[in-house]
Amino acid sequence: MSRIAYVNGQYVPHRHARIHIEDRGNQFADAVYEVWGVRDGALMDFDGHMTRLARSLGELKIRRPMSDAALSAVINRMVEINHIRNGLIYLQVSRGQARRDHVFPPAKTRPGIMITAKSLNAIKSEARAQKGIGVITRPDIRWGRRDIKSVSLLPNVLAKQAAAEAGAGECWLVDPQGFVTEASSSNAWIVTKDDVLVTRAASQDILNGITRRTLFALAENAGLRTEERAFTVEEAQSAREAFVTSASAFVTPVVEIDGKPVGNGHAGSFSLQLRATYVATANERARKRAPRPSVWLVAQRGERLVN
Ligand code: PDD
Repeated sequence: MSRIAYVNGQYVPHRHARIHIEDRGNQFADAVYEVWGVRDGALMDFDGHMTRLARSLGELKIRRPMSDAALSAVINRMVEINHIRNGLIYLQVSRGQARRDHVFPPAKTRPGIMITAKSLNAIKSEARAQKGIGVITRPDIRWGRRDIKSVSLLPNVLAKQAAAEAGAGECWLVDPQGFVTEASSSNAWIVTKDDVLVTRAASQDILNGITRRTLFALAENAGLRTEERAFTVEEAQSAREAFVTSASAFVTPVVEIDGKPVGNGHAGSFSLQLRATYVATANERARKRAPRPSVWLVAQRGERLVN
């Protein structure tokens, strides 16, 4: 079955999807993105990702490509026409297409938008989580605005490649003081020996993950103890459990850090319980906000807006 992409107002076969060579996302990484996890046909944490998209665009002064209602309808339609049961929706908005010049193009320049959909094997993802992953660590060499979900991801790519070459599932990034910031494409967490959930505080040093925020709220509602603070690699290695969170990994246990086992070296029960709770809750919320048919009409208008 052929995949469909959405590019600048049009649904096109994925293999024919094209952007212009002078799209600023291509030349300057002058673009932001979002990723939604899809589980059992439901878009996870939909509103949280929409809100962060608006923030990223605002921080970089990139125009919104269309209204939230229209965008929401296009995203839901992408899930449907690509028959995504389990997988990801990727959305990228650039400052648009213009003659190459570092300075912003004229204000009337239309932002570029592209959306792709990808199916993932839920059984494999679940098996990966149940087994847990190993992580390596590397210095965090990224820019100073990691809170913006910019497509400028070269340091993240290099870190993830280093992990892959080491046979690890993720790379944790470490600041010059020896504290873990986050991972190459996820947030890093530990569970202390006193059962406190710890992750680095939101600041310009990390991407404030939507999964991270949802998990925090879930944990606090459940009366679990949480702390937003930095931790070192050594503290993580001697923690009870460790895990990462993201739209694609949900909650995935970490069983080894730089070759040292975490806890008993198996996926932690606390982490797996959090994963199950996160998936069930996000899924339930997604079903409650499933789009109403009237939204499709707004979608049609939205599509024309950028045509
Ligand atoms: N990555 N930190 C970084 C650097 C990330 O790239 C991501 C997400 C996260 C977790 O954020 P969230 O929970 O909102 O997905 C943290 C996505 C999945 C990606 O780049 O594919």
